[in-house]
Amino acid sequence: MRVSVGSLTDLPDGQGVRVESSGHRVAVFRLGDAVYAIGDRCSHAEASLAEGEVFDTDVECPRHGSEFSLLTGEPDSFPATRPVPTYEIEVVDGEVFLELEPIEENA
Ligand code: FES
Repeated sequence: MRVSVGSLTDLPDGQGVRVESSGHRVAVFRLGDAVYAIGDRCSHAEASLAEGEVFDTDVECPRHGSEFSLLTGEPDSFPATRPVPTYEIEVVDGEVFLELEPIEENA
């Protein structure tokens, strides 16, 4: 299922936005003209990754500091050890669409 998350220019650059739809809770990040989407629930203790700080293409969990890749959903620091799902994003004529079928989910 494809849902619109609004126009690219309305998304804050370098920050996350939480999107909830059809039982999914997704963290959407715009980095310039690129947009990434990963599961919003940290795989360690479910903190909102959309509220985390972005460093390059990683987001730092606001609760205990694990960093997750926005590209793969994989954590690269403890205490989280399991990835979060990644979601497909498409930008069409400046509008951002989120595909709500997880690409990978090992949780
Ligand atoms: S809740 Fe994210 S690292 Fe603990």
